[in-house]
Parts: sequence; C-alpha cells; structure tokens
Amino acid sequence: MILVTGVSGSVGGAVLSELLRSESSVRGFYRSQDEANKALPKVETAIGDFADRASLDRALDGVETVFLVCSPIPQLVEFESNVIEACRASGVKRLVLNSAFGAGQYDKSFPAWHSVVEQRLKASGVPFTILRPESFMQNIVTYYSGTIRSEGAFYAAGGTSPLAFIDLRDIAAVAAACLTREGHTGATYTLTGSEALSYAEVAERISKLTGTTVRYVDLPPAKLRQSLLGLGMPAWQVEALIDLQAFYTAGPGTTISGDVAKVLGREPIPFDQFLHDYALSFAAEKTKA
Ligand SMILES: NC(=O)c1ccc[n+]([C@@H]2O[C@H](COP(=O)([O-])OP(=O)(O)OC[C@H]3O[C@@H](n4cnc5c(N)ncnc54)[C@H](OP(=O)(O)O)[C@@H]3O)[C@@H](O)[C@H]2O)c1
Repeated sequence: MILVTGVSGSVGGAVLSELLRSESSVRGFYRSQDEANKALPKVETAIGDFADRASLDRALDGVETVFLVCSPIPQLVEFESNVIEACRASGVKRLVLNSAFGAGQYDKSFPAWHSVVEQRLKASGVPFTILRPESFMQNIVTYYSGTIRSEGAFYAAGGTSPLAFIDLRDIAAVAAACLTREGHTGATYTLTGSEALSYAEVAERISKLTGTTVRYVDLPPAKLRQSLLGLGMPAWQVEALIDLQAFYTAGPGTTISGDVAKVLGREPIPFDQFLHDYALSFAAEKTKA
C-alpha cells in the first residue's frame, strides 16, 4: 500500500493520478472528509493532519511506501518532520520526498526549509528518494495567466536569468516511478525541463502560441513587495518569494539536470508542449462590445 500525502494539492494530486494508471494500491491522506469524498472509489482514504501524530499512525497502518509533500508554509519543517518520524516508527520501507531545487544550495526561503527536512530524512534511517523540482511550468498558469488574458502582460521580479521550468506531470511520473520501482533508494534527483527560458522568452513563446503580443514586465523587488503586500499576501510569504527570486536571478536556475530522462527513459515534456496543452488558459479575453 502506498500512502500519498497532499492529494488535495497540485503535486500530490498528480502523483495519485499517475499511480492509479499503474494499478497500485493507493491510500490518499486528506485533511477533511469533504475532500476525501471526492476520491475515486479505488482510492482508500485516510483523514488526518500532519500536526496530529495519532492520525498519521492510523494512516500508515499497512503502508510500506509514502509520498510526502506539504504546502510551502512556515510549518513545513515541523509537519514533514512529524511524518518522517511516524514513518520511522511504523517501519515504512520507502519514502519519496518532494523537496525543491536549491535545497542544500541556498540558505534562505523555501530551499532552506527543504534542506532541513532532507537532513532529517537522511538521519531518520527511513529508505528515501529526494526529488528537487525546479519552478513548475504550471506556476505560469496559476500566477500569471489572469493578467496575460486580461492585459496581455505579466509581472514578476525574475530579471533576465533563464529557468529550466519543469512540467508538474513529469514530477508526478518520476515520483510514481520512484514509489513503485526498485533502484532509486538513496538518490536525490534534480527535476528540470530540457531548456531554460527567461520570463521575456516565456512571453515570446506565449505570444507565438496565442497570436497576440504578451509582454513580461520585470518589477524591482521593492515594487513587487509593495504589490504583493497590497494584495493581502502575508509578509513571511512575500519575503520568501522575493528571496527565492533573488536566488534564481543569480543564475542557478539555468541548470538542466537530465534526471527526468534518467528515471523515465524519455525527455521531459517540452515547454511548447506544456503551452499547447494549457493554451485555453492564455487566450486573450474578448473585449466587450
Ligand atoms: N511551485 C513551485 O514551482 C515549486 C517548485 C519546487 C518545489 N515546490 C514545493 O512543492 C510543494 C508545494 O506543492 P503543491 O504545489 O502541490 O502545494 P499545494 O497545492 O499547496 O498542496 C499542498 C498539500 O499539502 C496539504 N497540507 C498542508 N498542510 C497540511 C497539514 N497540516 N496536514 C495534512 N496535509 C496538509 C494540503 O492540504 P489542504 O488542501 O487541506 O490544504 C495540500 O494537499 C512545496 O513544498 C514547495 O516548496 C514548489
């Protein structure tokens, strides 16, 4: 039995879908009965919270393999450490951790939190595989498609450094392979796409796809801070995002790792394929007559 956490979220949901294709026995870990009620009949469900050890112990009953992902929140280290400790105590034989690109390399923001969890996992004695994904291609839909549709522009503080964006579907496919096949124990995989693009190049690709001009507007960090705080984003999250942008603008995001092909035996989903698959998200809004 494989326990997948974070199933109501982007990565965990995609991993669950991928595992269902391989006919694995899967249990999803949900925080609410309402969310669990949405699961397909062949998915077992467990209700609990990373902060509630008894709920983790119940969810791990009969489980040999675990996929662990948590939202990027300040409690991430505490919550994921709780899960790792529960896995150790229940004798879990394999844990695949969703970490982040930059863990072990950058001592601020989300990568720093993920580094602490990686160290705790390694020290726990639970057999592990660590996945360090780069920025998700789907972030472009989540964060930027609204103004791309309404204004033909998007705003960030990404500078001119290219990023090797990864498609979420590749992360899920790699995770499923590591959860169900031998040969990945002890490995740390850096998951990137096959090309690195600056935000200005992303804008060009979207323009080509939609046939309308899409501009990238680079904001100085102070302006981005003001804008995100104005939108009601909590200060810790604003600072974490600005620190992360500073890490990326320094250039490490151009790394193309080759680990997706190593695990899956195929190249990562190309950026243009991603754009094609999500084309409707970028279509300009029709102006009202
Ligand atoms: N976005 C990127 O480009 C990127 C790149 C590299 C790494 N990452 C990492 O990927 C992770 C985010 O993945 P995602 O996009 O799938 O996040 P997400 O959509 O926010 O999903 C997070 C999941 O964690 C669950 N969760 C949160 N707190 C919980 C708790 N106390 N107990 C049980 N479950 C809990 C959420 O459940 P609820 O639905 O109930 O809240 C949800 O299912 C972060 O760790 C981030 O640092 C992101």
